[in-house]
Amino acid sequence: MIKTLLSSVPRIRIANLPTPIEKLPRLAAKISVSELLIKRDDLTGLAFGGNKTRKLEYLIADALSHGAKTLITSGAVQSNHCRQTAAAAAKFGLDCYLVLTGDSPQHYSGNLLLDYLFGAELVWCERERREMVTQETFQRLWQEGKRPYLIPYGGSNSLGVIAYAHAMIELDEQGVVADWIVFPSSSGGTQAGLVLGSKICGFKGNIVGISVDLDSAQLGQRISNLIAETINTYSLPVKADGSEIDIKDAYRGRGYGLPTDDDLQAVRDFAKYEGLLLDPVYTGRAAAGMIDLVRQGAIPSDASVLFWHTGGTPALFAENYTKLLSD
Ligand SMILES: Cc1ncc(COP(=O)(O)O)c(C=O)c1O
Repeated sequence: MIKTLLSSVPRIRIANLPTPIEKLPRLAAKISVSELLIKRDDLTGLAFGGNKTRKLEYLIADALSHGAKTLITSGAVQSNHCRQTAAAAAKFGLDCYLVLTGDSPQHYSGNLLLDYLFGAELVWCERERREMVTQETFQRLWQEGKRPYLIPYGGSNSLGVIAYAHAMIELDEQGVVADWIVFPSSSGGTQAGLVLGSKICGFKGNIVGISVDLDSAQLGQRISNLIAETINTYSLPVKADGSEIDIKDAYRGRGYGLPTDDDLQAVRDFAKYEGLLLDPVYTGRAAAGMIDLVRQGAIPSDASVLFWHTGGTPALFAENYTKLLSD
């Protein structure tokens, strides 16, 4: 019944689903955990893939149903969300405006280069003014008759949550049993969706979001609001009291986009032991957190752990991160 309710939410098929699940035996032996699996959402497709492809299936369907001609969203200079939104806009013949925080660099690299190739218009502003500039850009485009559709930061609203509730159901249908699921958490939509999906399919393991920027209280509040909003919007017969939201915020180092030595080491280890690419901002940080949780015994060594790869690999080729990784 709940699955039918979820399936009735309009969606445009963009992603290559289901994403594969692979075993990582060499890395499991190195970090001393009995089983390590990876869910490859870096293979969802749409401009190098990532978690936003799933969210955009719902967001683009909604935008088109509202007669949108232009997409607008915001993020950091190396935002994966902005890159994938720009790719989706190109694919569906829409204009795209990205409000990016910081200064325009002299050379474009990584995600920013891709934004440019997809033909997105870039609007630069300071981090503190991001919301205001996004709203102003929206108003301006509206007055110019460009029919803008605002995609929230990180694609995290109830549509983005529905996408990841579906992803959890997909995992359940793949028949994989894991005791722990670990992934990066930032705007909260991925974690809210996985928690909601786990209730729908009766998953009994632990779902742990490694925060890349906010503290547990702030991110937890955001995730619990997203879950409540989704349950209300779609009248889902599901109860959530917040106890399901497990966030580890000890791995944030000096903050967002500033990789720690452990983050960089995790990127190197996944590459060297399994031939897999993570990114220095999100998945590298989440992998470093996961490895530390195993080391501390918070994740027992006899557990089966699934690392949910949420994408982000183009950031590997951003000028500042290439330097850090090749040092
Ligand atoms: C590669 C990657 N992983 C994880 C996340 C976090 O997902 P969410 O914003 O849904 O918490 C992001 C968000 O931008 C991302 O780009």
